[in-house]
Amino acid sequence: MAETTTTKETEVVGVVGGGQMGSGIAQVAAVSGFDVWLHDTDPAALDRAVRAVSSSIGRFVSKGKLSRAAGSDAMKRLRCTSNLEDLRDADVIIEAIVESEEVKKTLFSKLDKIAKATTILASNTSSISITRLASGTSRPSQVIGMHFMNPPPLMKLIEIVRGADTSDEVFLKIKDLSERMGKIVVCSQDYPGFIVNRILMPMINEAFHTLYTGVATKEDIDTAMKLGTNHPMGPLELADLIGLDVCLNIMKVLYEGFGDSKYSPCPLLVQYVDAGRLGRKRGIGVYSYESSAAEKPKASL
Ligand SMILES: NC(=O)c1ccc[n+]([C@@H]2O[C@H](COP(=O)([O-])OP(=O)(O)OC[C@H]3O[C@@H](n4cnc5c(N)ncnc54)[C@H](O)[C@@H]3O)[C@@H](O)[C@H]2O)c1
Repeated sequence: MAETTTTKETEVVGVVGGGQMGSGIAQVAAVSGFDVWLHDTDPAALDRAVRAVSSSIGRFVSKGKLSRAAGSDAMKRLRCTSNLEDLRDADVIIEAIVESEEVKKTLFSKLDKIAKATTILASNTSSISITRLASGTSRPSQVIGMHFMNPPPLMKLIEIVRGADTSDEVFLKIKDLSERMGKIVVCSQDYPGFIVNRILMPMINEAFHTLYTGVATKEDIDTAMKLGTNHPMGPLELADLIGLDVCLNIMKVLYEGFGDSKYSPCPLLVQYVDAGRLGRKRGIGVYSYESSAAEKPKASL
């Protein structure tokens, strides 16, 4: 992870949502030298986030990729709160809550009232329109997509998404912030799924269809894609890592956004989500991560 000093313009980063992405984003920001406020409505999620950040930083330290002092300083810069108003002094607020347009829009309009006039509101959404999230605020030129990959401390890419009204100045500030976090950026226009999920999710959905129609076992589908196309993880393992609920929500956004039946979610993906089989975060998805070691895929990012 990059250890850097912050710009004068961005000193405090707020992160909303302490799940797998929000906790990772908070970790990246804290290790990069920013003061971080992490907010979640669920106090248990904040407890899990602190444990996850602490153990991830511990792994960076034990591998010699981060000094012990830098790791301990980063933990001191990370503050957690269940009160959204504590983010009022943040220069940039990165939202990483559930992938629902309605819930995100409600949050953005609350943040618009709480945050300083100069604060940039960024969303880590995987697919939802930045333009529509911005429309519920009084600052559409200061709303932008900042799409980290999973897991944020390890993955180099940030996909920056410009809404219809995002200003050049805000784009450049977020590009600068991303680079100070040690990331490489690409820029996407604001269409459903942007670049990465426009291409990735239909592949994952097709892997579910391949399983659903009995073409092959889950293990053979993943092995075929790993060894046959040089992917580090198979599509079904990757779906479990991302979260099957997140994958389903993205497919719905693509389906509704383009009105094309090729994006229709596979019934098996829908059924797994209905059953609460959400992937690694629930201990079961396409694979089981709890009792049977034989069921566990070996891949990890
Ligand atoms: N999972 C991935 O691989 C991945 C990758 C890139 C982007 N994303 C995007 O990141 C976002 C978060 O995904 P995740 O996988 O971390 O989800 P998650 O389910 O792990 O975490 C979501 C967190 O948000 C909290 N939350 C929900 N509503 C809230 C609210 N109104 N205010 C504050 N906190 C709230 C929940 O308590 C939970 O802790 C989604 O938009 C998702 O599409 C996910």
